[in-house]
Amino acid sequence: MKEYPNVTIFDHPLIRHKVAILRDKNTGMKEFRELVEEITTLMVYEAFKDVPTKKVMVETPLETCEQTMVADGAVTIVPVLRAGLGMVNGVHTLFPTARVGHIGMYRDEETCEPHEYYCKLPNRSDNTVAIVLDPMLATGGSAVAAIDLLKQKGYKNIRLMNIIAAPRGVEVVSKAHPDVKIYISTLDRELNEHSYILPGLGDAGDRLFGTK
Ligand code: PRP
Ligand code: URA
Repeated sequence: MKEYPNVTIFDHPLIRHKVAILRDKNTGMKEFRELVEEITTLMVYEAFKDVPTKKVMVETPLETCEQTMVADGAVTIVPVLRAGLGMVNGVHTLFPTARVGHIGMYRDEETCEPHEYYCKLPNRSDNTVAIVLDPMLATGGSAVAAIDLLKQKGYKNIRLMNIIAAPRGVEVVSKAHPDVKIYISTLDRELNEHSYILPGLGDAGDRLFGTK
C-alpha cells in the first residue's frame, strides 16, 4: 500500500498483544468488550498528544501555581453504530466529560454499501476534535459516509480511529477525506469476497453484543 501522511499505525507491543487476543475466535464477549475499550484508551493516549489545553491556577497546600489542563469541549466522541459503541468508554476513560454524537450506519449484506439510519450530534461543532470510532475499516464506505455527515453538520476537525483496517479502506478514506487523520492499531492484509477483513476478527458488532 502507498504511504499516506495522514495515517498513523500504532506499533506498540501492548496494543499488538491485546489485538492478538481480540482476533482469537475463542475470546468471549466480555473479554472482547474489555479489550476493545483498553485498546481504544491506549490509542487515544497516543493520538491526542496534541489535544488543545488551557492554563489554570491551582492552589496546592503550599502555594498557587499555573497548571495545564485539557480545554473544555476539546474532544467530541462519534461512534458509528453499532460496533463503535464498544470504543466509547475507552475514550471517556481519558476524556470523561466529552460529548457523544451517534451515527447509525449498516452495510448492506449484498452490496456492502453503507446505509445511514440514525444521526444525533451535539450542536457545538466549533473548536472540537470529532473522533469517529469504529473498530473495523473494511471497504471504507461507512467511514466516508460518517465523515461526510459530520462535515455537513459543520464539524471541521475530524479524526478517525479504527482497531483493524484493510488497505482498501485506508485508501478510500484518505482519498475522500485527505484532511482527516486516521489512527489504526493494525493494518491487515486484504478483504475477502464478502468484504470481511483478513485475517481480521470477524464481525465486530456481533462479537461485542453477542448477536451471533
Ligand atoms: C461494520 C463495522 C463498520 C463497517 C465497516 O458494521 O462496524 O461500521 O462494517 O465496513 P466498511 O468499511 O466496508 O463500510 P456493520 O455494517 O456490520 O454494522 P453493525 O456494526 O451494526 O454490525
Ligand atoms: N465489519 C466487520 O465487523 N468485520 C469485517 O471484517 C468487516 C466489516
